[in-house]
Amino acid sequence: MSGNRTFTMIKPDAVQSGHIGNILAKINEAGFRIVAMKMTKLSTEKAGAFYAVHKERPFYGELVDFMSSGPIVAAILEKDNAVEDFRTLIGATDPAKAAPGTIRALYARNVGENAVHGSDSDENAAIEGLFFFSELERF
Ligand code: RTP
Ligand code: MG
Repeated sequence: MSGNRTFTMIKPDAVQSGHIGNILAKINEAGFRIVAMKMTKLSTEKAGAFYAVHKERPFYGELVDFMSSGPIVAAILEKDNAVEDFRTLIGATDPAKAAPGTIRALYARNVGENAVHGSDSDENAAIEGLFFFSELERF
């Protein structure tokens, strides 16, 4: 039986800093199976739509500019308890508060440029996966 799924992006800061390989290694070591993966770049419109839930937040404009500033790596990941276990693996939004050894503690620059995205619920994981990947791109 397949496990639960979550959705992630390696954000522009981590791609630009050359951390794709290190982050994928952490994901593999933590027992996630890669269901889908691509390198792409979000337009400001697409980044705005993806983070529309944060539209009213003061950091929304900055977030949209940052997420469309360079290429990202998007992926769907599978594992039992995927959403929660992946949030544990990436650590707190602010890397200064992220537990030692977490992806954000290791690779994030600051609370805005924080290396990776992780879905916050099973429902959003499904929505976010469909935002990037067609049926033919999911394995
Ligand atoms: P994500 O959705 O990217 O996995 O991050 P998250 O759940 O840990 O944090 P969330 O509250 O959903 O915020 C989304 C992204 O917005 C940026 N942010 N900047 N300047 C700020 O205070 C601030 N707060 C959030 C971060 O890039 C955060 O990951
Ligand atoms: Mg979030």
